[in-house]
Amino acid sequence: MKRTKKFVACVAGLTLLAGFSLAACGSSDTPAGTETTAEEPPASGFAADATIGVALPQKTSENWVRAENMFNQGLSAAGFEQIVQFADGGASEQQSQISAMVEQGAKVIVIGAVDGSQLGEQLSQAKSSGAYVIAYDRLLKNSADVDLYVAYDPYRVGELQGEALIEGLTKAGCAPCNIELIAGSADDANSIPFFEGGMSKIQPKIDDGSYVVVSGQTQFTQAATEGWLAANAQTRFDTLLAANYASAPLDGVLSPNDTLARAALTAIDQAGKPTPVITGQDSEVESVKLILEGKQYSTINKDTGVLVNKVIDIIKGLQQGVQPTPNGDPLNNGVINVPVVYLEPVIVTAANICTAYAGDEVVEAVLAESGKC
Ligand code: BGC
Repeated sequence: MKRTKKFVACVAGLTLLAGFSLAACGSSDTPAGTETTAEEPPASGFAADATIGVALPQKTSENWVRAENMFNQGLSAAGFEQIVQFADGGASEQQSQISAMVEQGAKVIVIGAVDGSQLGEQLSQAKSSGAYVIAYDRLLKNSADVDLYVAYDPYRVGELQGEALIEGLTKAGCAPCNIELIAGSADDANSIPFFEGGMSKIQPKIDDGSYVVVSGQTQFTQAATEGWLAANAQTRFDTLLAANYASAPLDGVLSPNDTLARAALTAIDQAGKPTPVITGQDSEVESVKLILEGKQYSTINKDTGVLVNKVIDIIKGLQQGVQPTPNGDPLNNGVINVPVVYLEPVIVTAANICTAYAGDEVVEAVLAESGKC
């Protein structure tokens, strides 16, 4: 499978500039060349106490809960009026929340989308109002009204997961290795890049016969987990194990995150099977403990604090009239090439777990308590 990025740096730069102009000039009613008043200093994109909206999805993993607290604290400390909301009710609730943020005059709207393809109307409202739109962690798709995507590169996350699975299976010494695949929720724009990144590493092993997906479920649609819900992954694994692994060993599982890895491990344990090599993501407390115990092979450190602070720094820059500097190849969202600011995800296994979380107080406390680091 091929990476689906498009590379149009120049267009992206213009898009970014255009997006910023809307936010900076449109919203402050100070078109280029117009004298500004004392209340609106020339360098300022918008008021220092402006409203900032942060629309988060459901609490399907710990990172979102951490993000809520960090956005509340960080935006408030920076002097902004923040509105930070979860969309526990799903995509339609998030649509209403974003419309309300626009009505309340938000100058920047940060969106971790439930379904990044279902927000076209709300993003259009946001842009018409002069707001700057940031896709947070998950790309906003099929819309021209997205200014920036800030995330840990999701395709790279998938590649790291695929590499970790291969490393673990090589150590396990199976030949051929029986594996199963789990993918995230189909409505999350990250789920396909996670899966495709992982499969870019694993598919060659399937093709050369080193790995066998015994269930035959190798397509994203077969492996997807609706709503990222642990219960859905566990039910799928109960069925899959009963049908395919009565006598065969299960050596490895590609899991896109920690929540689903633990769900699969529960099903595997209940089926009386030994623990396979299994990947994850998010560095959730329970999974960090499982890695220390040797029951989960890997996770990914995508430090939420670093990501949230990056977004808050961008917002502070926008307030001052400074446009963000993209650092990756623009990503095609189906309509435009969205400028990206990428952070680098880090793979964590038992080999580096003691040193991988410098500055992350939550995980560092777990490591210290374990007595293993
Ligand atoms: C995030 C992951 C998370 C998943 C489920 C994805 O979009 O990137 O970190 O595990 O959503 O919440």
